[in-house]
Amino acid sequence: MVGRCPMEIPLARPYFDSEELQEIGRVLQSGWVSKGPESARFEAEVAKYVGVKHGVAVVNCTAALHLALLSLGIKKGDEVVVSDYTFPATAHAVLYCGARPVFVDVLPDTYNLDPSKIEELISPRTKALIPVHAFGQPARMDEVMRIAKENDLSVIEDAACSLGATYQGKQSGSIGDLGCFSFHARKGISTGEGGMVVGSDDELLERARYLSVFGMKAAWERERADEYSVPEFHDVGYNYKLSDVLAALGVIQMTRLNEIIKAKRDLARRYTDLLDAIEQVQSPLEAEGCKHVYQSYVVVLDEAINRNRLIMELKKRGVQAQIGTYACHVQPVYASKQKCPVSRMLMDRSLALPFYYSMGEKELGAVVEALKASIGAIS
Ligand SMILES: Cc1ncc(COP(=O)(O)O)c(C=O)c1O
Repeated sequence: MVGRCPMEIPLARPYFDSEELQEIGRVLQSGWVSKGPESARFEAEVAKYVGVKHGVAVVNCTAALHLALLSLGIKKGDEVVVSDYTFPATAHAVLYCGARPVFVDVLPDTYNLDPSKIEELISPRTKALIPVHAFGQPARMDEVMRIAKENDLSVIEDAACSLGATYQGKQSGSIGDLGCFSFHARKGISTGEGGMVVGSDDELLERARYLSVFGMKAAWERERADEYSVPEFHDVGYNYKLSDVLAALGVIQMTRLNEIIKAKRDLARRYTDLLDAIEQVQSPLEAEGCKHVYQSYVVVLDEAINRNRLIMELKKRGVQAQIGTYACHVQPVYASKQKCPVSRMLMDRSLALPFYYSMGEKELGAVVEALKASIGAIS
């Protein structure tokens, strides 16, 4: 196990071992550290796991979302319906394209978008829907896909937190037109920073790939071509390439994914059992037909509890905690006049507890005890 965290019990801790160090060493010695063969391997591994034809590895999921929107032709003047309760990267990516995010409220039990509220938000300018699979649990994709089909809209799954989660047996990220994953430090598997756009539509994925490399072919592909040709630039592309140093990490992390998911699901069950004894804490629910991968373990607190004070009390006891995530419609950057009361309530009352693959029974018990003591101290 590599790495240390200043808190006694940190919120998250990625799991790396000697294989990752070995692979990084091998890539450094190979002389090719930019996007190249390791990225291609990582893309193939993720695509195979998810059950889609293609993956494009990029620097993070925010870049993946941006590329997904651009590939679908989202532009200035368009509207995109976005799940409100999410890390603002989801809606930021819409703004990057000059389009407007329109926020849809979420359900209080799964924290995922409420499909019954989508249709009232659709206008002639609406071009796409972005369901977010909150904390690793898939949104109700059958309804999302039906609404998208009836209204001729594209669907981008924000699967930043949900690699390996399934909805009615289908892998998250494989259901919409495009799916976007994150490999940030707090995600199921991590490359430090990293992301991927996935899908099976050749044209969409080719466009995402081309736009991720300035609007040209990557040096690795050009080196392998039979003829030398000078690239021409027709579009404003981006430099969103994932380094092969990080992609090599990703290849090894993929071999651990199923084991990590299994351990975290067991851990989540254990948390839920222990937290049952604390009346003011509502544990997360796994919805029917969903396999939740618990990127984070997020509870909802009784409204009488001052969540921010509770976070500070937990910190005094060596336990790192944080809010679940954000209600986007109240963030000044979006200047939205919409109301999403459930999402707002969740932003105010949610609490992410320490949760990671290598967490033992001792830490789990210590968090629950610290939570009881902290609630007692501020009540
Ligand atoms: C739902 C969601 N979407 C997008 C992102 C952005 O991911 P990244 O940090 O890889 O850009 C995050 C990051 O936390 C997220 O939680």
